[in-house]
Amino acid sequence: MSLLIRNATVVTAEETKAADVLVEGEVIKEVRPGIPLNAAQTGIDATGMYILPGGIDCHTHLDMPFGGTTSADDFETGTRAAAFGGTTSIVDFAIQGRGTRMRDALDTWWKKAEGKACVDYGLHMIVTDLGGCGLEDMDELVDEGVASFKLFMAYPNVLMVDDATIFKALARTAKNGALICMHAENGSVIDVIVARALAEGKTAPVYHALTRPTRAEAEAVHRAIAMAEIAGAPVYIVHLSSEDALNQVREARDRGVPAFAETCPQYLLLSIEELERPNFEGAKYVFTPPLRTKDNLPKLWDGLKHDHLQVVSTDHCPFCFEDQKILGKDDFTKIPNGGPGIENRLQLLHHHGVNAGKLSLNRFVEITSTAPARIFGMYPKKGEIAPGSDADLVIWDPHTLYRISAETHHMRVDYSMFEGFEVKGNARTVISRGEVIVDDGQWLGRAGRGKYLKRTARGGAWK
Ligand code: URP
Ligand code: ZN
Ligand code: ZN
Repeated sequence: MSLLIRNATVVTAEETKAADVLVEGEVIKEVRPGIPLNAAQTGIDATGMYILPGGIDCHTHLDMPFGGTTSADDFETGTRAAAFGGTTSIVDFAIQGRGTRMRDALDTWWKKAEGKACVDYGLHMIVTDLGGCGLEDMDELVDEGVASFKLFMAYPNVLMVDDATIFKALARTAKNGALICMHAENGSVIDVIVARALAEGKTAPVYHALTRPTRAEAEAVHRAIAMAEIAGAPVYIVHLSSEDALNQVREARDRGVPAFAETCPQYLLLSIEELERPNFEGAKYVFTPPLRTKDNLPKLWDGLKHDHLQVVSTDHCPFCFEDQKILGKDDFTKIPNGGPGIENRLQLLHHHGVNAGKLSLNRFVEITSTAPARIFGMYPKKGEIAPGSDADLVIWDPHTLYRISAETHHMRVDYSMFEGFEVKGNARTVISRGEVIVDDGQWLGRAGRGKYLKRTARGGAWK
């Protein structure tokens, strides 16, 4: 099957140019102006549209047990919602149970995705315990295409690991070429502050944010980078939320240290006031790290523009308000941590980044697709529009108006963090490995068509 997308403006991280894109089977065959359409090809007219490489969301939590419940989107509903928003690859997180082998967790997460994933998916492994053979397990996982591991400096007694574990894991990646992703917050300090707040009867959602100071994030970012330097490995900070933390990354990068970081739309667009919404609605904005004061937002945008931050992911981890967030009605520490966003990343960044003049179109493509592909070992198969790359393409209408709402979104969650946001620009047609899966708001894909992405070690963070 052959597709010819004609008359478009092709936008990559490098350039913007008028060209046609010829797709044969699952891959891109040719990119140039004036490719003739023949009778065997399906033609798509993209006049006035951009063609972007499919979005890559390298931080999602589908079907994840967490906080006494399970995230509301599974691999089917979550990846379908991703596709509607122009995301054609995700990297989700498998979780090693303490005292168990990482291989078991990988098998469990493969089963979760099997028959369900609508777009291609990779997996990071959350390491909770290096135990007897954890370091060998890491090598085995790298061979299976799990080229990155997440470690937590927060959530004591749940996911947090000590500095020795972090350092050993970092040192192992210096040999096997994987990448350590850090949830950087000082969990021990935060736990003391949280206990103090609860003892004072402070149980409302806003105390989730007030008990997690930016210094606790910055300190952990600093420590993570220092340990990575000693180990001789790069490090990637996930869901960075504050100027304080960003300063640590920038300072390290200025010294030539291979430190990388992502932020998320919620940290770019929302602030701590959301947690003060009445009727417990602040719980909709309880995730970790928390929303910060408004003065942080322009600093994060600036960080993206100047490459102090390299990626925007979503940290999509949806819990329904009515029957999941409510678990913390009388105690903010029992509110499942996480928010939905897998569908809206490109819309929000295009509107608030490109349309607002904060990001160039090419930088928009870079931070949503090309950089995650490079850093996480998927490039140039993903994140590029060039002969030989997978035909993961988004025909993007930069002029269409769209109103984000839980009434119309495709995520299986009963609220939107961005309810009522009006954006200009949206995915019109979404192509995954040569197959049109979304067209004009219609779902044409199918559950189970998404393939596991076997990622390579020594990706962009090592160059
Ligand atoms: O609150 C969050 N971010 N939930 C998902 C788990 C994590 O730490 O990424
Ligand atoms: Zn995290
Ligand atoms: Zn996360």
